Amino acid sequence: MDVYLETMGCQMNRLDSELVVARLRAAGHEIVASSADADAVLYNTCSVRMHAEQKVFSRLGADAQRKAAGRKLIVGVLGCMAQRLGRQLRKRYPCVDIVCGPGQLARLPQMLAFAADGQPAIALDVDRNDRAAAEDENIDWIDLVRDADRTTSSAQAFVRVMRGCDRFCTYCIVPFVRGAEVSRPGDHIEQEVRRLVEAGKSEITLLGQTVNRYRHEGDGRSTRFSDLLARLSDIDGLRRLRFVTSHPTDFTDDILQAMAELPNVCEYLHCPAQSGSDAVLKRMNRGYSRGDYDDLIDRARAIVPGVSIAGDFIVGFPGETDADQQASADLLRRCGYKNAFIFKYSPRPGTPAAKRFDDDIDEQTKKRRHAELLGVQDEIGLAHHRSYVGRQVEVLVEGPSKRADKQPTPPPAGQTQLQGRTRGDHIVVFDGPETLASQYVHVDVTNATALAMMGRLKAES
Ligand code: 5AD
Ligand code: SF4
Repeated sequence: MDVYLETMGCQMNRLDSELVVARLRAAGHEIVASSADADAVLYNTCSVRMHAEQKVFSRLGADAQRKAAGRKLIVGVLGCMAQRLGRQLRKRYPCVDIVCGPGQLARLPQMLAFAADGQPAIALDVDRNDRAAAEDENIDWIDLVRDADRTTSSAQAFVRVMRGCDRFCTYCIVPFVRGAEVSRPGDHIEQEVRRLVEAGKSEITLLGQTVNRYRHEGDGRSTRFSDLLARLSDIDGLRRLRFVTSHPTDFTDDILQAMAELPNVCEYLHCPAQSGSDAVLKRMNRGYSRGDYDDLIDRARAIVPGVSIAGDFIVGFPGETDADQQASADLLRRCGYKNAFIFKYSPRPGTPAAKRFDDDIDEQTKKRRHAELLGVQDEIGLAHHRSYVGRQVEVLVEGPSKRADKQPTPPPAGQTQLQGRTRGDHIVVFDGPETLASQYVHVDVTNATALAMMGRLKAES
């Protein structure tokens, strides 16, 4: 079958899609780049904000029309939105043949076969309150059968270390759709990383919703996140090890020390603050105060020299005042983030915030606050990236730059404008031959913007 897969949302979804592609190929299917001639279209969806869900509804509307016009097509909704809406999805959009929760993706080849027989296929994850069942479900089934040679050609790969989330921030749908927090056994993670490194990957990003809370008990041993980092950092050929996303609570010094001492653990921390105001943090149920967050950033800067830090913020959370907004702007300035993702609050049905609080900040105020924080971060990002001008950085080359057409001068003959990343996750743009993709090079930084650095390739590294 020719299958078209579209992925929305976070890095966890990108990894899930990669694993799905590998399973489908192994089952004899072909993955195609356009939905126009596909036999099946699959959407790996995100429920974090309403906007992401609306995009899927508009796709489903178009697919319904195509099917009504007589086109034979299997339509599948995968991931968080499939889990959130379950059977309702088929009631609202009868054109949907497959509904598959994020923990059930390994079943997709079977589900496609069912759908090809004209039968709807629905597989949803177990109830998050049934923790024993969640653990029994063989949480890393699809990760374990990953075929390292079938991943993308780049030198980078994601590896899941845990699933789900138990934090219940009041605005967030994730604990309801990705289920209870479960850490994978260290042995499984190590095996997977080893296989990926043997297949040529040299940069591994460990994924978890609250990755620093990783803890696995088994065989009479308790493995903390810092233990896992130490264990993985011993793998020969693993040049860079990173992890996202961290939660400001449970971020103990042993993790920062691992970052400082293990040569391949990168000096990069993505640790969302969400707000700089204690009152808002409390209503969000984040579990820390502004002072705690300030302290974490101070500890990180003291223990890990040159650490680069990224954050997330939500503006327009219910009851947010101008003073709360100023507290967030203040925190942005204090932290000197490399970059910050800033989102407008979007009430999600079923979350504690949607039940308890009115979405009382009007859209115009949300937009104004969003623009204001983006403006503040722009200045900070520019200062941060400028501080590298005149220095040399090590870059893992990813490939041609996505913004090549916007550059003032075209690259010399035989060269392309390339893009890569430093250990601190900074984007670096420079001219060089395309054959450098997936290699490590040194670049002299000559200029900077709020989001990236520009530079000149060193003769060789
Ligand atoms: N509205 C807006 N932003 C949200 N996020 C999570 N839930 C919501 C919501 N309901 C943001 C948080 C989180 C990021 C992945 O998405 O900032 O860190
Ligand atoms: Fe959502 Fe909070 Fe869990 Fe992050 S820590 S996934 S924001 S509930």
